[in-house]
Amino acid sequence: MVQALYTKKVMEHFKKPHNQGVIKDATIVGESGNPLCGDVMKLYIKIDKKKIKGKETEYIKDIKFETLGCAAAIATSSMITDLVKGKPIDEADNVTKANIADSLGGLPPIKLHCSVLAVEALHKALKEYKTKK
Ligand code: FES
Repeated sequence: MVQALYTKKVMEHFKKPHNQGVIKDATIVGESGNPLCGDVMKLYIKIDKKKIKGKETEYIKDIKFETLGCAAAIATSSMITDLVKGKPIDEADNVTKANIADSLGGLPPIKLHCSVLAVEALHKALKEYKTKK
């Protein structure tokens, strides 16, 4: 039944999520929750600097997540870590929930809201990081 709702890619990320866990010395932690279903997510981000195209650039060196949620919430959490790991923070900040859903081969319309958790946690964390600098 669950399988009928989701793409093969969503099921892969749900069954074997990438980058699940905690980064103890994370630079920043983003949190988000869905008040309607009660699902919650934490995103641990380690930011570092390296030369990208000859310019010293802040980038996401490592990223991990903890998600208490539905299959779509776990799959989108896993996918967002794949999409932004190693990317400059400004590029990571441009990732949208549509990018995540597309990368997963689509989400059922009633599950599109679940992809908000991951994007919200990422954007909150990066905003906090940028304002703290
Ligand atoms: S049902 Fe809560 S995030 Fe999917």
